[in-house]
Amino acid sequence: MDVKGTTGRYQETGTQALAIAVFKDEKADEGFLKELDGATGGLVKSVIDSGELKGKEGETAYLLIGGRPDGPGRVLLVGVGDRADYEIASVSQFAGSAVRSLRARNLKSVALVPRSDAPAGAVASAAVQGAIISTFDPDKYRTVDKEERTVDQLVVVIEGADENLVKSGCESGRIIGESVNFTRDLANEPGVYMTPTDLAERAREIANEFGLSVDVLDEARMEQEGMGALLGVSRGSDEPAKMIVLKYTPRETTEGSEVGLLALVGKGLTFDSGGISIKPAENMELMKYDMTGGATVLGVMRAIAQLKPSISVLGVVPSSENMPSGKAVKPGDILKSMAGKTIEVINTDAEGRLILADAITYAKKLGATTVIDMATLTGAVSIALGDVNTAVLGTEQALIDEIIAAGKDVGEKFWQLPLDKDYTKQIKSDIADLKNTGGRKAGTITAAAFLKEFADGISWAHLDIAGTAWGDEQKPFRSKGPTGVAVRSLINLAVKRSEKTRGGN
Ligand code: BES
Ligand code: MN
Ligand code: ZN
Repeated sequence: MDVKGTTGRYQETGTQALAIAVFKDEKADEGFLKELDGATGGLVKSVIDSGELKGKEGETAYLLIGGRPDGPGRVLLVGVGDRADYEIASVSQFAGSAVRSLRARNLKSVALVPRSDAPAGAVASAAVQGAIISTFDPDKYRTVDKEERTVDQLVVVIEGADENLVKSGCESGRIIGESVNFTRDLANEPGVYMTPTDLAERAREIANEFGLSVDVLDEARMEQEGMGALLGVSRGSDEPAKMIVLKYTPRETTEGSEVGLLALVGKGLTFDSGGISIKPAENMELMKYDMTGGATVLGVMRAIAQLKPSISVLGVVPSSENMPSGKAVKPGDILKSMAGKTIEVINTDAEGRLILADAITYAKKLGATTVIDMATLTGAVSIALGDVNTAVLGTEQALIDEIIAAGKDVGEKFWQLPLDKDYTKQIKSDIADLKNTGGRKAGTITAAAFLKEFADGISWAHLDIAGTAWGDEQKPFRSKGPTGVAVRSLINLAVKRSEKTRGGN
């Protein structure tokens, strides 16, 4: 999709169709809609006066005004709800709904008029993100009756705004939207095509394409590092584990300022059968997305490499399969983690925390002072928060608040769960330092309590994306399947940190 912004008039975009945001209860006989009504020969007023379009979120009306020499032949009115609640995230959803709907009508060139009062760069970026995200479909391997319609040209209209702001907003929106879809594409791949080796290959590709340093540890190097927890999980699999490390280093470093090193650590479990504690067959196919945390890290690094913030960012992805076999780790076995702590494996299906433990330790070894890990870690998080909020837990309130705020800017919701030390007694083992499950109660919290044991001496937060990383239903602005949750929030967090260090100079 070719993307551009314009600060000119919406009538002059030269596209086949125009999509326009309409607020709830907006009148057609005054202001913006009055002018539009004139350009459509009275059709806008008639759909609004008849009650066909009230401007509620998700409503649309499609007007064919063909043959007019003074503008596009088609207008899509998209209800966006109350003007007072119209935020940057709503702009993204407006754009997504518009592009999906016009694509279904086989239109190739589309102009969007988001009508937001927010800063022009942010509006342009959000609109382009929403448009690009809306075009992802999970049917990569369908060969029969496959829908091949595409929107090839997108124009974002922000009349009267600063041209440079709109231009750079469109460019960052393109980078971010494509990176979200990159993550979704990885998450969508079946285990057969997305082994730890494949995931590492994808990491190498983005490192080469966008200029990141990359290092992939094989099992021999993991042995040298003492990564017994990760190697224990991988033991039942025929596919070798990989520890993927990407690093972004800014050109100009902020000399003298104590910015520290931000590390993003993501669970890259390319297929989770449960291992010897095997999962029930129903829905097991979904466990191909158990590497979404890792895919999220790669998507964020891909964007950061192009947006070039002024802080260093490390990405660490421990990657393995979890399979049953004669060699697999057994319940009751003891694993020795890289940090030296010993772990009694109660349930081989609680494998995510094991591979993350060694990854967090390795990130620390590489100098990380802040670690944010993300993982499809527990089924319990869906029971607690559904598919609406991502759980966030951690040891530093300021970091948790920073994540929640970064999410709010881009319309992603994070909800903090408590992590009192009282929960830690649920993961004490009789035979070793820790056990890898904490019983039925507070499953999401005890999983985080386990990770916390490996996050001492740093600022640390954990995101459990098991409930939010996969959408069971399609939305007007997004297909069903992998959502790419947290990619936008974490890019935003890195960019905001960068702006803060720049401002502090
Ligand atoms: N990958 C799963 C968590 C999961 C479940 C993600 C459903 C997405 C949807 C994780 O490895 C797991 O199996 N967790 C167990 C932990 C339990 C054994 C303590 C769980 O949540 O049941
Ligand atoms: Mn599991
Ligand atoms: Zn898992």
